Amino acid sequence: MSAGVNRQRMQALVSAERDSYIARHPESARLAAQAGQHLLFGVPMHWMNDWSTPFPLTVREASGARFRDADGHEYVDFCLGDTGAMFGHAPQPVAQAIARQATRGYTAMLPSEDAGPVAAELAGRFGLPCWQFALSASDANRFVLRWLRAATGRSKVLVFNGCYHGTVDDVFVDLVDGVPTQRDSLLGQVHTLTDHTVVVEFNDLPALEAALQQGDIACVLAEPVMTNIGMVLPQPGYWEAAQQLIKHYGALLVIDETHTISSGPGGYARAHGMMPDALVIGKPIGGGIPCAAYGFTEELARRVEHAKRSAPHGHSGIGTTLSANMFAMAAMRANLEQVMTEQAYRQMFALAAQLAQGLRDVIARHGLPWCVTQIGARTEFQFTVQPPRNGAEAHDVMDAELEQAIHLYLLNRGLLITPFHNMLLVCPDTTGDDVARLLSAFDGFLADTIQKQIC
Ligand SMILES: Cc1ncc(COP(=O)(O)O)c(C=O)c1O
Repeated sequence: MSAGVNRQRMQALVSAERDSYIARHPESARLAAQAGQHLLFGVPMHWMNDWSTPFPLTVREASGARFRDADGHEYVDFCLGDTGAMFGHAPQPVAQAIARQATRGYTAMLPSEDAGPVAAELAGRFGLPCWQFALSASDANRFVLRWLRAATGRSKVLVFNGCYHGTVDDVFVDLVDGVPTQRDSLLGQVHTLTDHTVVVEFNDLPALEAALQQGDIACVLAEPVMTNIGMVLPQPGYWEAAQQLIKHYGALLVIDETHTISSGPGGYARAHGMMPDALVIGKPIGGGIPCAAYGFTEELARRVEHAKRSAPHGHSGIGTTLSANMFAMAAMRANLEQVMTEQAYRQMFALAAQLAQGLRDVIARHGLPWCVTQIGARTEFQFTVQPPRNGAEAHDVMDAELEQAIHLYLLNRGLLITPFHNMLLVCPDTTGDDVARLLSAFDGFLADTIQKQIC
């Protein structure tokens, strides 16, 4: 697929951009070689090799909307740790709270004084009264699935084709030619995931109803807007109808707001009047410190408590030793009370709207068949005129070669966007000038690569 781009020109451009990256990053190259002696694949997480760069960019420090690499180059960060730093790197209130906590202990397997206030803040913000904590959104999703299977006595989980909820094995089932199929890239998976995971397309109410009718689905685990396969918005009325179906067939709805917290201080569900039974939030909730939280309605909390009290004494399979540690609680409290404010969101929304409109204008000027979607502080461009309606459509328009070319071109001009698709986040420290710089570089890339006759 050409997506309106001249592939030959693009490949020549990428080759020049790779040379430029290598020439400008001798210290990153040295550090990568050194680290490679003792790190599997040369990086602390294997997927850090999957960026567009010839070798990993080493970060020296990050603050607000910016970071500096080991060679001293400064970048405007529109990736923001793929949402972990959505409120800016090292926000001052969080930095102060963790500095204060630094001499007061980190973990004791007991609640700290911040636990109650954090839970109260989450309850007020998300409209769910009962909360628990985890160290990552992946863990939080795993724990919620366990609680809900236990509470309902039902074994199955329903997810949407193309979803991602972290490294939760249950969700790695795709629809391949309409057939639920375990994702073949999964390593070391010995269980048959399709036994307990049902998968349907997003925005397909008849398919959802047919699955729910079986009466064995404990819960639907969903992002309210799909964000991990490019962006897929719910069609008007979809969630209203889907929620009714889920309730009607006795299943529960878990909304994963880890990315859609970009929609507002209470996430997409609050902003759009959704009423989930459970909600998961990770990544930016502690300003980038590892932590996550999940909340239940009063009714679900009672069912979950009953399940635990009725179970034999012993391990529940839920929880890790450092979950809800004092350090994470201090970070969450400062972040929730002082950083994730209405005012911060207002600023981010205005800038993201400017960014989304700017991208649309550049795309239109170059006559490309691409679209732009924005939910709050999160903006995505996709290589299709019509925004995709489900995971299959979104998957079909992904183009790794083109994505990587854009990402590398931007990175060489001091602009970082999220790898693996085309997501851009703004934080409260991002400026109008930063957005203008991004748009100008994006325009430059398109000018160099759009479909033209080669002379
Ligand atoms: C919607 C959603 N939920 C959960 C996760 C997992 O987050 P983590 O990797 O911090 O566990 C992700 C990660 O990208 C995500 O996008």
